[in-house]
Amino acid sequence: MDNKRKRRVTSISATLIFFFACCAYTLYILNFSNPRLPPPVSLLPTINTLKKIEHVTDLNKEYVFVGDIHGNYDEFMELIDDKIGGLGENTTIILLGDFIYKGPESDKVVSYILNHRDQVKCVLGNHEILVMMAYLNPDFSKWVKRPKLMTPLTFSTESDFIPQDISKISTAHEKLARELGFSKLSQLAEHCSVAIELDLDITGDKLFGAHAGMLPGDFMKPNQIPGVSSLSNMKYVDKKHWSRTSREKENKNYIRWYKLWDKYGDYFSNAKVFYGHDASMGLNLRKQTKGLDTACIKDNLLSSMKVKYDRKKGQYDYTLIQVECS
Ligand SMILES: *[C@@H]1O[C@H](CO)[C@@H](O)[C@H](O)[C@H]1NC(C)=O
Repeated sequence: MDNKRKRRVTSISATLIFFFACCAYTLYILNFSNPRLPPPVSLLPTINTLKKIEHVTDLNKEYVFVGDIHGNYDEFMELIDDKIGGLGENTTIILLGDFIYKGPESDKVVSYILNHRDQVKCVLGNHEILVMMAYLNPDFSKWVKRPKLMTPLTFSTESDFIPQDISKISTAHEKLARELGFSKLSQLAEHCSVAIELDLDITGDKLFGAHAGMLPGDFMKPNQIPGVSSLSNMKYVDKKHWSRTSREKENKNYIRWYKLWDKYGDYFSNAKVFYGHDASMGLNLRKQTKGLDTACIKDNLLSSMKVKYDRKKGQYDYTLIQVECS
């Protein structure tokens, strides 16, 4: 190769290298260093929409569904130690969401769950989800105006889930997110789910737990998988379009979701739904829906319901157990 040819090859290579470097840099600028997109902190594990406790045939087992604790650790311990006689080997606790936030000792409640995870199950409430969102999006205040740009919290059956109303993320959620930190929040994301199903094989009962609620047929009809927002947030449903659920009564067609169970529950007569979330209605025990948020955070009561087989009656008993909050 003569010198002239060598120089030409070198300059072509240099041009190509320069060209690719420019392309790579442009892509980098577009993708990663867009100033409107702060880098995501470590992502949390995927959260299951539904977890199941299947084929319960052991008549000694008892299950206790617990309404909104909101960080009231002492009352939670009083419920377990004094009212149900401790966390015995045959006892399973199912927390119905909003077990953190607002109250004094969220961190202790979370530690208790994680230290007893074989026996303490949990569904996520709107506040657990908002704390996770605050953790994933530390600059949340900037995002409120541009929700599409948020780093999504992902769920297994529903990708890119974003809470309906992210303006509900507060600085208190952010503070608690920092207090709990990555390790605890990621363990919660893995351990809890958005809904839980308990199959009592002896009687064929199917008990569901969800923070806000569930409609007749949800998880029971093959194509009726409720969304995360409905499960964790709704109070109302459009009686003509069940797919439209809402936290607010949007118009005269919107009714409290449990009224659908009052009317159509017989079609799913083995199903019951345990939920929290609606402190304004207080204790709300109906045939197939059991509302257990009794505003412990406002010095009222912490409510729970124990499900245990009664050998004499040949059926499961549902016993209300409450603790006074102060
Ligand atoms: C738990 O259930 C088993 C049977 O599955 C029984 O042998 C045992 O006595 C029970 N324990 C308690 C504390 O009730």
